[in-house]
Amino acid sequence: MREIFPFIGHKEGELFIEGVRAEEIAREVGTPLYVYSRKAIEEAYREIEEAFKEVNPLIAFAVKSNSNVHVLKLLKELGAGADTVSAGEIYRAITAGIEPKKILFAGVGKREEEIEFALDRGILMFNVESEGELYKIEEVAKRLGKVAPIAVRVNPEVDPKTHPYIATGLKSSKFGVDFGTALKMYERAKESKYLKPVGIHFHIGSQITDISVFSQAAQKVKELVKELGSRGIEIEYFDAGGGLGINYRPDEKPVSAGELARALIPHVKELKCRLILEPGRRIVGNAGVLITELLYRKETPEKLFYIVDAGMNDLARPSLYKAYHHIEAVRGGEKKVKATIVGPICESGDLFGEGRELPEMKEGELLAIFSAGAYGFTMASNYNSRPRPAEVLVEGDSFRVIRQRETLADLISREF
Ligand code: LLP
Repeated sequence: MREIFPFIGHKEGELFIEGVRAEEIAREVGTPLYVYSRKAIEEAYREIEEAFKEVNPLIAFAVKSNSNVHVLKLLKELGAGADTVSAGEIYRAITAGIEPKKILFAGVGKREEEIEFALDRGILMFNVESEGELYKIEEVAKRLGKVAPIAVRVNPEVDPKTHPYIATGLKSSKFGVDFGTALKMYERAKESKYLKPVGIHFHIGSQITDISVFSQAAQKVKELVKELGSRGIEIEYFDAGGGLGINYRPDEKPVSAGELARALIPHVKELKCRLILEPGRRIVGNAGVLITELLYRKETPEKLFYIVDAGMNDLARPSLYKAYHHIEAVRGGEKKVKATIVGPICESGDLFGEGRELPEMKEGELLAIFSAGAYGFTMASNYNSRPRPAEVLVEGDSFRVIRQRETLADLISREF
């Protein structure tokens, strides 16, 4: 196979996901359709596990990147925990069999019911994002007669050099708290019968490819942990968040997990803390493709449009962030035209790629949009009253539907 991304590529002029022809899946399940490679997920997970094995971290998969229960189950089998941001994500993680003691609960706006839900399940820790939230967690814990394990999410104020919408560690961001506020919060938690400081958390952004920003952030947070130690507050978990980037272009090399390990390991060793990582995109991003059918070719005096049956409701990243996703014809062929690939949604921003080199294609043929395994299905919506796509997992020479395509009846099922 000529791989485009690991375990996904062309063989005899056809796109394969592991041992299965993309066309065979699409003909059986319909389009648009998300397809994931089990081996690609496993390999990406193991790369991180291997790079960090010296310190045996908890790898808490960021459920927001791909929350399908079957994907979570397979990660559970590999030993993963879960980084969650809602009761819904905790529910999914637990349904997949992930032990509560491997679940983190982050997010800037946790509701009281969600805090209660998490406390009842006995999760590993709450990553707390404001003073108000700390008081709320204390109040709920007191009411339930429990002790809430907490980490404060601190803002190390480093620029992750990524898209502004996914940068979270800057001073101006809504995430985390400054170091001064964090110290106050830890002092407060130490005094409380219902709170137990167990960790510290930072997450500076997503799709980061410059590892030096991780070192800078870890260095700053390490100093804070030492300061806490001198005040009698012992930190057990050093949670360095997610954010490790992937290559969206097949001809680019991704930054290695080993490099990230070299940036983080010395700090956790010095502190004698257990490291927690929260990777999402890095594990599932390049393991997924969105398969879509060419509905119409439309030639205007300016451009050749390939109008496909997937829209920005199915994969929002190109329209939301102007993100680049590689696109190829499922049946290879010589690249002869420049086509602009657009969806059926009534918005000019419903665009997957501008002037892409592709073969001459006929209506009814299939295209693959790559790197769609992370923040693909999880950000899909029903905009334009379009049922959300199906999801399929390929395992070697076989595949199975892991989420059925929504139906028209599903669209209005809550409106009676
Ligand atoms: N931990 C925390 C606290 C996070 O906020 C995130 C992502 C992660 C971990 C996982 O980050 P990753 O390893 O996947 O980079 N929808 C955007 C990405 C938003 C990321 C939000 N937080 C996109 O499609 O690019």
